[in-house]
Amino acid sequence: MRPINIALIGLGTVGCGVYQTLHIHQQRLEKLVGAPINISTIIIEHPDKHQKIAAKTNVTTDVNTVLNNPEIDVVFEAIVGKEPAFSLLRKCIQAKKHVITSNKEMFATHGDELKNLASRYNVRIGYDATTAGGIPIIQTIQQLLKANQIQYVQAILNGTTNFILSAMREKNITFSSALDEAQNWGYAESNPENDIDGFDAFYKLMILSDLIFEKQPDIEHVTRVGIRNTTEESIQALQTEGKRLKHIAKIGHDAAGNLTASVELEAVSKEHPLYAVEGVNNAIHIKGDIVGDLTFTGPGAGSFPTASAMIEDFCILFKKERAPIAIG
Ligand code: HSE
Repeated sequence: MRPINIALIGLGTVGCGVYQTLHIHQQRLEKLVGAPINISTIIIEHPDKHQKIAAKTNVTTDVNTVLNNPEIDVVFEAIVGKEPAFSLLRKCIQAKKHVITSNKEMFATHGDELKNLASRYNVRIGYDATTAGGIPIIQTIQQLLKANQIQYVQAILNGTTNFILSAMREKNITFSSALDEAQNWGYAESNPENDIDGFDAFYKLMILSDLIFEKQPDIEHVTRVGIRNTTEESIQALQTEGKRLKHIAKIGHDAAGNLTASVELEAVSKEHPLYAVEGVNNAIHIKGDIVGDLTFTGPGAGSFPTASAMIEDFCILFKKERAPIAIG
C-alpha cells in the first residue's frame, strides 16, 4: 500500500516532538489513517546538527526537494515568524500538499489567505497547534460548536507568562528567575519578548477571532500589556487578598457592536473561571448562545502537547480524506 509521505519543516522543540511522536505512535497512527506513514524529508537550516534522524529520511536545507516531489502528501511546518514560513506554505499548497502548522504569528497574519489558497488548490490546513498548545480548541470550535454563536472568549493563551506568574507566587521568586525557568523548560519563544510582552497571546487571540467572528478587531481597539513589570511583592499582596494575577486575553463586542480585544493582567478571585489555571497550562472560557459557559484547560506549550495538536490534525485530515475511498 502506498504510504502517506510526510515532510517536516523545522526541528526545534515542536518539530522534534512531532518527529518523535510519529515514531513512538507509528502503529496506532497507521491504524487510524489506514496507511503506512513515512517521514520522507526534513527541511532544516543546519542538517549537520541533527545526527539522530533515521537514514531513510532526506535531511536538507532545500525546500524544492519537497515542492518537486509529488509523492509528498503533507507538510508539517514548525518554525517561528511570518517569513519564510508564509512563503513556504504558500508554495506547498500550490504544489498541492496539505499543510499542518504550529506557527501562530504567521497564521494570525496570513491565515485567511492560506485558507483561501488551500480551498482553491483543494488541500486542507490544520492549525490547531497555533492556539493553546495541546488543547484541541480549533477543532472543537470548528467541529463541535457549529450551531452555537460564541459571544465572547476570555483565555490564558500563553504558557510562559502563566508559568512565570504561578512560579513567582508559589516560590516567591523574581520575574527574571521565573523567566529563566520557563526558558529552561522550553516553553518560551526564542525571543521571549513575544511571550512576556503579550504578542504571542495576541496572535492566538486573532486566530480565534478569525475562526469565531470571521474577522479581526481594528488594531486601535486592542489593548496589549505584557507582564515584564510585575513584581513578586505585588503578587504576594494580591495573594493575601485571596486573588491571583492572570494574563488574560479577551475578545467580544462592545456596546456599540465593535469587536474589541485585549491582552492584559487581571487580578482574579476564586470564582473566576481562570483562577485555578496554573503553571504552563492554558485555558479558554467561551460563552455559546445555546450551550452557555464552557472552559477548556490543558498544557499550552511544550514539545509533546504542541505535537499532539499537530498529530491530531494529521489524523483528522487523513481519516476524512480516505474515508470515501474506503467506503467506495
Ligand atoms: N511560547 C509559547 C507559550 C509556546 O509559552 O505559550 C506555545 O505557543
